[in-house]
Amino acid sequence: MPATVTVRHALGSYRVAVGPGLLEQLPVLAAEHLPERRSAMIADAAVFALYSAGRFGAMTWTGETLCVPPGESTKSRDTWGRLTDDLLERRFGRDSGLIGLGGGVVGDLTGFVAATYMRGLPYILVPTTLLAMLDASVGGKTAVNAPQGKNLIGAFHPPAAVIADPLTLATLPEREYRNGLAEAVKHGLISDAEYFEWMEAEAAAILRRDPATVARLVYRSVEIKAEVVSADERDTGRRAVLNAGHTVAHALEQLSGYRLPHGEAVALGLIAECDIARRMGVASPELRARVAALLARFGLPVRYEKPLDLEAAIGQMGSDKKTRGALIHCALPAAIGRMHQEKGWTVPVPREAVEAALVELQDRSRTHF
Ligand SMILES: NC(=O)c1ccc[n+]([C@@H]2O[C@H](COP(=O)([O-])OP(=O)(O)OC[C@H]3O[C@@H](n4cnc5c(N)ncnc54)[C@H](O)[C@@H]3O)[C@@H](O)[C@H]2O)c1
Ligand SMILES: [Zn+2]
Repeated sequence: MPATVTVRHALGSYRVAVGPGLLEQLPVLAAEHLPERRSAMIADAAVFALYSAGRFGAMTWTGETLCVPPGESTKSRDTWGRLTDDLLERRFGRDSGLIGLGGGVVGDLTGFVAATYMRGLPYILVPTTLLAMLDASVGGKTAVNAPQGKNLIGAFHPPAAVIADPLTLATLPEREYRNGLAEAVKHGLISDAEYFEWMEAEAAAILRRDPATVARLVYRSVEIKAEVVSADERDTGRRAVLNAGHTVAHALEQLSGYRLPHGEAVALGLIAECDIARRMGVASPELRARVAALLARFGLPVRYEKPLDLEAAIGQMGSDKKTRGALIHCALPAAIGRMHQEKGWTVPVPREAVEAALVELQDRSRTHF
């Protein structure tokens, strides 16, 4: 039996099912969640090739499939235009449904096509990266990128269901897998010390991608994100805690011309923001060391090796879309499993603290954390 988490959303609640082997039931699940609908699958071409080659066990999908090239550049208005044209030519009506098979790129794209085609179709997500399973598939945000920035054109449109099968992760490149782990560490840090300790204890099984262990990891992370997203509807602003590590991460990603993968940027961002929290007297000095140790265990970077233009990095944080005015705002951790809360979930941070944390992040003399 798969474990399911219900994500409560103002625009519609939905279930995330997590279980090894779930993909075999895709036609049944599609019929259950998209009843009596003619459904089309939008698939990452690389993932669909793996599936067609039999690498995803007995997944059976014989319905219509629209493949898109793998990679972030596919998440564009151009691809959205081509997909919607294709659906129109194939005469998909308002009584259709969509299924997105792939990582966060296909998830966000399928969601945005579903949000806009015929003023909105229901859709199912079948995430096949760890990041898409425990982060991108939860929360109902859909988008495509624009030349001016990522995710600038989008809509809130929650899926009808999410089907996460950890067995699909067997083929995921190591670096992509580790990227997803950075968000799992963030989930433990922001709201569950026990989960964080469990990751420390089970690191070997997690890295081995033991299906039952990965299923547990995905399940708990989805529960945490779902809880935060649901709570945000009552107590606006709580969603900001999901942005832990991301103020610094977005700046590092941007400065690297997006060559630094998101998960690696998040690992560095979490470490820097633990440091900022300590400098502001919000967290203990041990917090940074413990977070860095787990990230390092997961093979994520804990030091920024390249030269860093501090002025540009700090300037970038001031213009981050999550900041208000010129001041840098961060959601700061107080301890493992607990975020700092004052008037709200983010606090203005003095630029000296950010600068010092970035210098520390580059410190080559540190041999341990
Ligand atoms: N909607 C949200 O709330 C949200 C949250 C976080 C991230 N995102 C978005 O998610 C995207 C990143 O997602 P991602 O990291 O999954 O990237 P991705 O979709 O580009 O997938 C990464 C790579 O892995 C390959 N791949 C996918 N599944 C595979 C498998 N099972 N085996 C082998 N290869 C596989 C893909 O072909 C691709 O090359 C970004 O566009 C980001 O903006 C959205
Ligand atoms: Zn992230």
